[in-house]
Amino acid sequence: MSVTPNSFVTYHPEHLSTEETLQRAQEFYQFMDKRRTVRDFSDMPVAKEVVEQLLLTASTAPSGAHKQPWTFCVISDPVLKKQVRAAAEKEEFDSYNGRMTQEWLEDLAPLGTDWQKPFLETAPYLIVVFKKAYDLKDDGSKRNNYYVSESVGIACGFLIAAIHQAGLVTLTHTPSPMNFLTKLLKRPENERPFLLLPVGYPAAEVKVPNLKRKILEEVTSWYGPKSENNAAKPL
Ligand SMILES: Cc1cc2nc3c(=O)[nH]c(=O)nc-3n(C[C@H](O)[C@H](O)[C@H](O)COP(=O)(O)O)c2cc1C
Repeated sequence: MSVTPNSFVTYHPEHLSTEETLQRAQEFYQFMDKRRTVRDFSDMPVAKEVVEQLLLTASTAPSGAHKQPWTFCVISDPVLKKQVRAAAEKEEFDSYNGRMTQEWLEDLAPLGTDWQKPFLETAPYLIVVFKKAYDLKDDGSKRNNYYVSESVGIACGFLIAAIHQAGLVTLTHTPSPMNFLTKLLKRPENERPFLLLPVGYPAAEVKVPNLKRKILEEVTSWYGPKSENNAAKPL
């Protein structure tokens, strides 16, 4: 096996004052806190160059052994979008009418979702994210990827943040099982569908569920020195 010699370059991070660090952290939180999942899209076009930049951002994500085990398939063809909608709605109909547990349906009720997915045709782009279970080399041999789901999940997080930053909206859609996307998009054997993200502008006067996010104390446990007030408390 050939080993690439290590090569390092100097990294130049920004040097911020304590105040600037806090300000940046606060501003980014406030910006991200405004992001919402939107399920009603406008058909207003979005330039392909914008989507290219969003995908470049997604692809800056860290990944296990820097394998970048993702492929972003971008659908704008109306015929293909119609096929994706039909196939997704078929799976979603079965899910909402038997496959989902009562508990799951109760948890979904506040979101007002059902099996119908018109946004799959309305949104100008559908980004279908595939994870690469392994790499396929040109000679057909396989090469491992590592922490694939973690890596692709982080890339999707970057993508969702980039969409928000660009003033666009998306919906993290999982019309399970998603194998129909492998077939419709003729993806190779090493790729598995991961998420389906419609991207575009929101419909006029769009409404979203009135959700509250967990407060900090509900999602954190601190393990500072015992002398600090915020030392870990038993649950
Ligand atoms: C992995 C994942 C799968 C999701 N699948 C769906 C889905 O199939 N359909 C849907 O309408 N929303 C889906 N959502 C969106 C969630 O319902 C939404 O993120 C949640 O209600 C919080 O709302 P917010 O994104 O506006 O904060 C999914 C979100 C995640 C992270």
